Amino acid sequence: MKWKQTGKRTDCKSVPLSDSLKHLNNKRPKRSGIGPTLQEYEREYMIEEKFMRRAVELAKGGIGAVDPNPLVGAVIVKDNKIIGEGYHERYGGLHAERNALASVAGTDLCEATAHFQNLRDILSGADMYVTLEPCAHHGKTPPCTEAIIESGISRVIIGSRDPNPLVAGKGVQQLEAAGIEVIQDFCRKECDALNKKFFHFITTGKPYVLMKYAMTADGKIATKTGASKWISCEKSREYVHELRNEYPAILAGIGTVLADDPMLTARIPGARNPMRVITDSSLRIPAGCNILKTAADIPTVIISAMTDKEFGSSEKKAMIENMGAEVINLPGEDGHVDLKKVVNFLGERKISGLLIEGGGGVNYSALKAGIVNEVNVFVAPKIFGGAAKTPVGGEGVELPDEAVGLILISSELMGEDVLLKYKTGSNT
Ligand SMILES: NC(=O)c1ccc[n+]([C@@H]2O[C@H](COP(=O)([O-])OP(=O)(O)OC[C@H]3O[C@@H](n4cnc5c(N)ncnc54)[C@H](OP(=O)(O)O)[C@@H]3O)[C@@H](O)[C@H]2O)c1
Repeated sequence: MKWKQTGKRTDCKSVPLSDSLKHLNNKRPKRSGIGPTLQEYEREYMIEEKFMRRAVELAKGGIGAVDPNPLVGAVIVKDNKIIGEGYHERYGGLHAERNALASVAGTDLCEATAHFQNLRDILSGADMYVTLEPCAHHGKTPPCTEAIIESGISRVIIGSRDPNPLVAGKGVQQLEAAGIEVIQDFCRKECDALNKKFFHFITTGKPYVLMKYAMTADGKIATKTGASKWISCEKSREYVHELRNEYPAILAGIGTVLADDPMLTARIPGARNPMRVITDSSLRIPAGCNILKTAADIPTVIISAMTDKEFGSSEKKAMIENMGAEVINLPGEDGHVDLKKVVNFLGERKISGLLIEGGGGVNYSALKAGIVNEVNVFVAPKIFGGAAKTPVGGEGVELPDEAVGLILISSELMGEDVLLKYKTGSNT
């Protein structure tokens, strides 16, 4: 969609008028009182959603590979055609902007415009669409602002603002100081949605926590015998494997390990397995379970809740470590694992997202500890009945007013199931 004559977009209301747009407004004919002509806007200010959407899609190529860095995509456009594109492909690798700039040299346009002396000539008058404010600091790679300024790009259209204190606003300032026009907040909602984990991690130092469970239409997460394979349909389970690829860590309680003997791996082609975190106060985990049998190959942390003395002398701890898992002791006051300490520990390890796939015990404690940011519920079209487990156990609240508040983000059909996504927070 193009800028309309009013200078406002129908769906991106937060797009500010850039300084030069205001300058164009000053050109408005005094007598009629109307704004610049549509042709003027189209010629000088045409910015297109389709290009930012392309950048968003490119950014997703980094899922499972870039965290704790953000997902970022960039597209370079000249004369309304894409001449370069790139994304942040892996942690420590080149950023999206540099990959997009590098790609320009190999495009057809380069061959077709052989009279251009260098890249600067090609990029003069070009726009860069980038989903996140370009970085302005030296990290694992030099600042992207430097590369953009050197490249000759004329205008940069940005989706999300970067809350990273090392960047926040500085990227824009540097570009503008170099005479590059900058438009911010373009398709911001779509761009922000790429990086909820990064934004949370960079501002709190802790992982973004998503609690996920599948339940029957009568609210059961297992039958009365504890069997839970399977509640949700194949499509939902495939989606869960995508989540496991997306989240760098996954947490379950020892109750789930004993009942289901899960692997907690991401079983889709090309996926990265999350670090597996098991809360197991007194190290009941059996040596023959799938988690420990694969601990030498997949990062695994077993978290206990012992006294220092018990922990120091635990033979089980030594056995678990020999199998390749790490054992950490994070006791809480109630004798169980302290989940607040768990998220702090993961934050220190630069883990930006945690997927909780616990049973009712861990789910209750996580909600009580206030560490959950989002809840995804798969509701399957079946009923178990009986005295079977529910998604959230514990003591429960006494009054409806004491409920954990949820705000619906979306509801969608997932095969035969319904997937409800909520963020935590007050719904009153
Ligand atoms: N449908 C689903 O989406 C789904 C997903 C997962 C599991 N399940 C089902 O859930 C059932 C297991 O439920 P569950 O509640 O026993 O499993 P759980 O929540 O995975 O594990 C609970 C255990 O974790 C340990 N733990 C350590 N620290 C804790 C803390 N702070 N808070 C709570 N627990 C802590 C406790 O044992 P210690 O005191 O020994 O440490 C506790 O008994 C199984 O039938 C499984 O099939 C269903």
